[in-house]
Amino acid sequence: PADDVFVSRLLHWFDDHGRHDLPWQHPRSPYRVWLSEIMLQQTQVSTVIPYFLKFLDVFPTLPDLAAASNDAVMAQWAGLGYYARARNLHAAAQRCVDLHGGELPRDFDALHALPGIGRSTAGAILSQAWSDRFAILDGNVKRVLTRYHGIEGFPGLPAIEKQLWAVAEAHAAQVPGTRMVDYTQAQMDLGASVCSRSRPACVICPLQATCVARREGRTDQLPTPKPG
Ligand code: ADE
Ligand code: SF4
Repeated sequence: PADDVFVSRLLHWFDDHGRHDLPWQHPRSPYRVWLSEIMLQQTQVSTVIPYFLKFLDVFPTLPDLAAASNDAVMAQWAGLGYYARARNLHAAAQRCVDLHGGELPRDFDALHALPGIGRSTAGAILSQAWSDRFAILDGNVKRVLTRYHGIEGFPGLPAIEKQLWAVAEAHAAQVPGTRMVDYTQAQMDLGASVCSRSRPACVICPLQATCVARREGRTDQLPTPKPG
């Protein structure tokens, strides 16, 4: 629809209630956005922030990271967990130096081909670093979309995931061109706060008037749990 209230209400909410003071937002650069997205894949914001700042002190640019020893990279990651992320990050930085002039490529396929960057992370980087029009679909966004649209079925199933990507892309297509950065952050912020896993705060949600799960009293049944 030309007037996508999911997009417009979410953006309006974000202006007043979203997070605007995260360290990777000031300044925003492709390297900083990438690093933050990798750290945030399996770790919450409050834990990530000190690691993010320290990591950038030690490796201020992508070529600095590429040139570091693996031990030096792992030392900065120690405590964050999921250490494959650090190995992939280091390998990806080296590949950017070898293939992309020491920068992160502004191209979906080239980005997606780097170790540790899946479809959603590639979208998160392109939308936040360059304001390019790409959808994201992480765990929080899956929860918001399954509830808002009343989409049944475990979101980890390929058929459901495909449906969710289609919905995410249809919304992204309606975002004002100047607001892709905010739209990406807004989805993450709503999923991390108002539309939480248990007991979502529908009464203060900007999407409550048009949300299927809210209307049908099914917020505790969506997203559908993993079968078996
Ligand atoms: N999770 C992944 N990316 C995020 C971001 N930019 N802000 C908060 N949580 C996130
Ligand atoms: Fe989530 Fe409730 Fe908002 Fe629907 S109305 S998106 S279930 S918080």
